[in-house]
Amino acid sequence: MDPLENIDGDSFDTVFPVPVMDRAARALESGKVLFFPRLAFALNAEEYAFLDPRCSDGRSKNISYDPSSGVLKGTGLAGSERERLQAMVARFAQSAHALVATLIPAYGRQLRMGRTSYRPIEVKERPSSYRKDDSRLHVDAFPSRPNRGERILRVFSNVNPDGRGRIWRLGEPFEACAKRFLPTLRRPLPGQRWLLRATGLTAGYRTDYDHYMLGLHDAMKGDEHYQRHCRQCEVAFPAATTWMVFTDQVAHAAMAGQYLFEQTFHVPVRCLQDPASAPLAILERLLGRALTARTAQEAPQKRSIRAS
Ligand code: SIN
Ligand code: FE
Repeated sequence: MDPLENIDGDSFDTVFPVPVMDRAARALESGKVLFFPRLAFALNAEEYAFLDPRCSDGRSKNISYDPSSGVLKGTGLAGSERERLQAMVARFAQSAHALVATLIPAYGRQLRMGRTSYRPIEVKERPSSYRKDDSRLHVDAFPSRPNRGERILRVFSNVNPDGRGRIWRLGEPFEACAKRFLPTLRRPLPGQRWLLRATGLTAGYRTDYDHYMLGLHDAMKGDEHYQRHCRQCEVAFPAATTWMVFTDQVAHAAMAGQYLFEQTFHVPVRCLQDPASAPLAILERLLGRALTARTAQEAPQKRSIRAS
């Protein structure tokens, strides 16, 4: 199976024919990467100055922007330069939103915007611990922001000015990863998730779903043999192209490249054409139980700790 599904279109507000919309949703949900070979996020003359790793503060992996609060992090720039950098990143957020909303209107209505990121650092030069090392195959899961079964949809644009591709590896289908690693994962400990929220380590309640997704993420990254020998292929996303993928479902690793934009969206499972394809449905089927309900024993515990 070709891991990419090509979609033609050269602007972020292209109006796609209905058969293309259907094909796009089906391909995405089946675990393909939608690839837009003619869709470039074009920078204007002023923005070219930001194609420089010195935009970063030198500590963060990415420059990150929260479209709902307007807060920009990870840059050392100040004053009007910072404002222009922020405007560029915000422009990408709007473009990515327009693309998803017009291509897949069923998602568009319920779409929740997550962070936007701009990645001016060469992938090979991003130092990190194995958990943060995105050059190891993984499915995405956020340790501090539980998403309780909601999908993680991401839009990427490679803006490399020297024509360099973004090199990824793509791994085996979600169900195969889950079958391999679920038996190695510990069951969630009762009380632990409430404690995580109470101490501010998670923004909201970490469900069993989040527990298993984080477990998969860490187990995949931590298994050297799996990294080298599982079924996988390399894909190069050329400069001046865009792609979109459910990164909670598709095992991926970034191997090389510099200057990338990324926008995260959260899509409720009920908006999918095929909810049975979601990691939530697959994990619930494999484990034989619901994974997003709060457990009965945790509610009383919460009250008693608050009262003390
Ligand atoms: C990732 O989402 O794991 C990394 C993608 C990239 O930086 O190319
Ligand atoms: Fe990732």
